[in-house]
Amino acid sequence: MRKITFLFILIYISCTAQETQTKPTGLVATKAMVVSAREEASKIGVEIMKKGGNAFDAMVGTELALAVSFPFAGNIGGGGFMVYRKANGEVGSLDYREKAPLAATKDMFLDKDGNVIKGKSTETALAIGVPGTVAGVFAVHKKLGSLPMSKILKLVIELAEKGVVVTKKQENNLNNYREAIVKINGSTTLLASNFKEKDTIKYPALASTLKRILKNGRNEFYKGETAKILVDYLQKKGGIITLKDLAKYEAKWRKPLQFNYKDLKITSMSPPSSGGICLAQILKMLEPYDLSKMGHNTDQSIQIIVEAERRAYADRSTFLGDPDFVKIPIKGLLSDAYLKDRMSTFNPEKASLSSEIKEGKITYNESTETTHYSIVDQFGNAVAATTTLNDGYGSKYYCDELGFFLNNEMDDFSAKPGSPNMFGLVGNEANSIAPQKRMLSSMTPTIIEKNGKLFMVVGTPGGSTIITSVLQTILNVYEYKFSMQDAVNAPRFHHQWLPDLVTFEPNTFDNSTIDRLKAKGYLISEKTTPVIGKVDAILILPNNKMEGGADFRGDDKAVGF
Ligand code: GLY
Repeated sequence: MRKITFLFILIYISCTAQETQTKPTGLVATKAMVVSAREEASKIGVEIMKKGGNAFDAMVGTELALAVSFPFAGNIGGGGFMVYRKANGEVGSLDYREKAPLAATKDMFLDKDGNVIKGKSTETALAIGVPGTVAGVFAVHKKLGSLPMSKILKLVIELAEKGVVVTKKQENNLNNYREAIVKINGSTTLLASNFKEKDTIKYPALASTLKRILKNGRNEFYKGETAKILVDYLQKKGGIITLKDLAKYEAKWRKPLQFNYKDLKITSMSPPSSGGICLAQILKMLEPYDLSKMGHNTDQSIQIIVEAERRAYADRSTFLGDPDFVKIPIKGLLSDAYLKDRMSTFNPEKASLSSEIKEGKITYNESTETTHYSIVDQFGNAVAATTTLNDGYGSKYYCDELGFFLNNEMDDFSAKPGSPNMFGLVGNEANSIAPQKRMLSSMTPTIIEKNGKLFMVVGTPGGSTIITSVLQTILNVYEYKFSMQDAVNAPRFHHQWLPDLVTFEPNTFDNSTIDRLKAKGYLISEKTTPVIGKVDAILILPNNKMEGGADFRGDDKAVGF
């Protein structure tokens, strides 16, 4: 009898779970999926898995295919972070973030009076950090891959040789950036041409570089002919990266940051990315509040999320940096008592003031550079990886002979305490420049488990808005029961402590909601803002199929089988 009752309860629970599960609105696949910024890259990842490769082989293929098909942010001249969860539940993460060159100095972007020289950390060859992407993909392949590297690289080289068709969004983007690219590289550089939608851009120089990497392995980039050409190029342009810098570069396996939010177990990137810690702080500060009852994107729910964001970003600016150089009080920052205390000044009737939480005066530009992809394979392994050149096309320095752009990641350091970087983020001593140090990031590749099973893989580009976009996507699915695609599509807002402004995606929020927030004293960014984030995510459905959420804000695409 007891057995029958138990069976009934089980059937009831499973029916209820099915009922509350929102119908998917994105691509549904049975076995494996890649969601990335370009269809070509997602397809290569999927092709690798169809050939029997795992999510880690697909990561290598997707990352490098983005370097070809999405030169705006995909790269071998930049760096990134990867979080994984194996089918057996084991988690890990790789830091292939750029590093400051050996000749870098704390004051390298300041004038003789100690003021930041505008543009020096973003638009000069000094802005370039030692790239980590090639070391990253080889480290992943060595530890976790299963197919021969040559099989993966051949697909990417083929893509570079065959070329990639220009989309309408890419045409617009190239128009926006052409002048800056030509200013640095001259009018004969590849992307100086007036490419139009449906044109095909071939990448022969990049194909040759990748062929040498295929032949000679990872060290081709760091110690071989490629390294020599790169250093020669950079030194002619006034850069300070040397052969020694390249030879010393190593990607680092790091313990990912893990925390619980209600019944979710969340694994995200630990420092030198601020992503995991800030996401954890915000979610933990939100946990006591009934967000689903407040409703999606209502003034009440926006207010509480903004207040949690304000406090987390204030902590980011003081405490976070490269853990190999600074001691970060992670336990303290994530302790329940500390976070409860942080929210004790929250007043539902009135906005807190960032100046009262900590001082600073700045302006900032938003940016959606960087790129993220999510992968789940047919074996149950999952990968979340975010990679970047920092700004769109990075520093705009494009080595014609090697066929790739170089990052301007040095701007992610704090050039001077309290002085904002291109994302308006303010930093302090913890994120000051030092030789060999990694600059603080906001990248937040994240994997979520529910009831011990893989639940979601998520991440996004967007500079300082990365953390808040990942946050809202998780809340949209978990608190508001959106499908994966709808969660990605939903309008987003952002607050980062300084400047003390709430930014909304243009024309997507009710005027009455915004008016109610203004009445409580919230300062709203009134200027037309670009989109916030471009989230690419995968949700595991109760029937074990998976739904992709590919962001319509870009050319992003889910491909699966
Ligand atoms: N370059 C953007 C970031 O790493 O956060």
